Amino acid sequence: MPQDSYQLASSAAHIYEDQKVKAIFGPLARATLNTISLSAGDRVLDVACGTGIVARSVRDRYGTDVAVTGTDLNDSMIETARMLTSDLVPPIEWVVADATAMPFADGTFSVCMCQQGLQFVPDKRAAIEEFRRVLEPNGRLVISIWAGASPFFTAMAEALARHVSADVAALSLAPFAYQAQTEVPPLLSAAGFGPVSVQTIAIDRVIEEPETDIPKEIFGNPVGPSVKEKGEETLARIVGEIRAACVGFEREGSLVIPQSAYLITAQGVK
Ligand SMILES: C[S@@+](CC[C@H](N)C(=O)[O-])C[C@H]1O[C@@H](n2cnc3c(N)ncnc32)[C@H](O)[C@@H]1O
Repeated sequence: MPQDSYQLASSAAHIYEDQKVKAIFGPLARATLNTISLSAGDRVLDVACGTGIVARSVRDRYGTDVAVTGTDLNDSMIETARMLTSDLVPPIEWVVADATAMPFADGTFSVCMCQQGLQFVPDKRAAIEEFRRVLEPNGRLVISIWAGASPFFTAMAEALARHVSADVAALSLAPFAYQAQTEVPPLLSAAGFGPVSVQTIAIDRVIEEPETDIPKEIFGNPVGPSVKEKGEETLARIVGEIRAACVGFEREGSLVIPQSAYLITAQGVK
């Protein structure tokens, strides 16, 4: 199963927003913006933006002092991002584009952010060269990539291996498989970025109502169709086994699961 793929059916973009952005990508975007700082006049590009949580969080925090553009390969993600921000004036610009070939002139942006996207791009070197090209000479790059699977996803993969297949289990772990801390820094240096910083940020993923939210988590994930094919009984077993494995993370009926991400930052050398 390729670790580099991440395509969602159109309805899944809404589930992604309702489930994953609320539970994990929103908290990660806010933790990232607590760690880096932007300045008035920055022009920020959010690459592989999904439903646009990083771009939206920048707008929430900095208002119109910072201009934001979001791009993603997946039409339905961009449609959802556009729909969620339709009342903003001036609007956030949303563009369907592959991270390795973006329709922007050289030096358009002062900051390029890519949250949990680079691991899905097959040609990471080409993507990083493209980030460098669309950044101004001393522009900043901010990449986040999970630092391994959380106990929740480890339990999910084990249950999928038992009840669906080893390939589907591997697909569920694809977002966590890339060794960003060792593989990204040399690519950044080769593309002309200066000293690279790798730090770890930790957030909690809260699964408020495990009985209903774990199935939503499964169906908002690329493994969803394979689980659906197996039927309700298999789904119930998978959910039960994940809950049993995560019992140590229960807090008043919810699951609170720790998850770490690498935050990799670098600045272009003029
Ligand atoms: C896990 S989601 C992260 C989305 C968003 N950054 C967030 O934090 O919610 C990964 C995203 O990468 C996008 N993606 C995968 N390959 C891509 C590529 N080659 N170019 C642009 N986007 C890509 C997918 O469509 C998906 O929206």
